[in-house]
Amino acid sequence: MVDLTVSLGRLNLRNPVLVASGTFGYAKEMESLIDFAQLGGIIPKTVTQSPRVGNPPPRTVETPSGLLNAIGLDNDGLEHFLAHHLPYLRTLPTAIIANIAGKSEEEFVAMAARVHQSRAGLAALELNLSCPNVSGGIDFAIDPELTRRIVRRCRDACPELPLIAKLTPNVTDIAVIARAAADGGADAVSAVNTFVGMAVDWRRQRPILGNITGGLSGPAIKPLVLRAVWRIAQLKAIPVIAVGGIGTLDDVMEFLVVGATAVQIGTANFYDPTASVRIVAALPAAIQSLGGNSVRAVIGTLRT
Ligand SMILES: Cc1cc2nc3c(=O)[nH]c(=O)nc-3n(C[C@H](O)[C@H](O)[C@H](O)COP(=O)(O)O)c2cc1C
Repeated sequence: MVDLTVSLGRLNLRNPVLVASGTFGYAKEMESLIDFAQLGGIIPKTVTQSPRVGNPPPRTVETPSGLLNAIGLDNDGLEHFLAHHLPYLRTLPTAIIANIAGKSEEEFVAMAARVHQSRAGLAALELNLSCPNVSGGIDFAIDPELTRRIVRRCRDACPELPLIAKLTPNVTDIAVIARAAADGGADAVSAVNTFVGMAVDWRRQRPILGNITGGLSGPAIKPLVLRAVWRIAQLKAIPVIAVGGIGTLDDVMEFLVVGATAVQIGTANFYDPTASVRIVAALPAAIQSLGGNSVRAVIGTLRT
């Protein structure tokens, strides 16, 4: 029997495989495809304080081994989420981790306080400090001091829920930002959101995305994310949830070995919606092949 449970600060998960925000809708869309009870948890699409229409189309384009997107946080706002999506989500037999993005520090804190009031059925709150596709630049996690402050204030505003800070890879040294999130009192960091990129149609001499730039995800970014997660894990300051280019059992094992405590499956949900549950089913044998009998026995076992 292999123990798949993991703990990230105050957050306890049945297994380390979550589905990433923005790639799993609000879960209802996926209910006919997979058994939610097999997942470590679900992170629904980011919600903002007010509804947002998002960016002009085209919003996605495939690139070699990757996906470039500029959705622009299209969503119906926090009150709609609490009234229409959360009642369904909280009935699901897995951990539900709400994900919010504020336009300002104050808005983050107000949203965290509002989520706290409605926290029944939520396992944790993920702060999207890192969406690269929104004009006005709400990429808070490029600044360690701002990251620390937002995390601290959201933790004070939402004391009963474990807090996860979702970081951007679009920085010189992500470990500095991860440490700031730890100092602010985050239970874990999610590393990473998408890498800013661009696609061009040279014949029309135009950008392909309506937003001109977008965020790169999918298998193309995995090596970059492995390195980012490894750097953060070496701090030994905060548990890391790896997200970026993960779609197979081998990917998950690689991230556990470099030091991730859990993983999120993102873009893979679009081309293989059952990947997450198949990975969970295959994890025990992979862990046993390393001589372990728990996920914890594998985490951070990279030999260098
Ligand atoms: C179409 C699309 C929409 C996304 N929307 C969100 C979002 O609303 N909030 C968020 O925190 N991350 C969002 N992400 C980022 C993913 O959660 C994830 O961090 C990123 O895609 C890297 O993981 P992957 O390579 O497994 O997709 C989005 C990604 C994609 C591809």
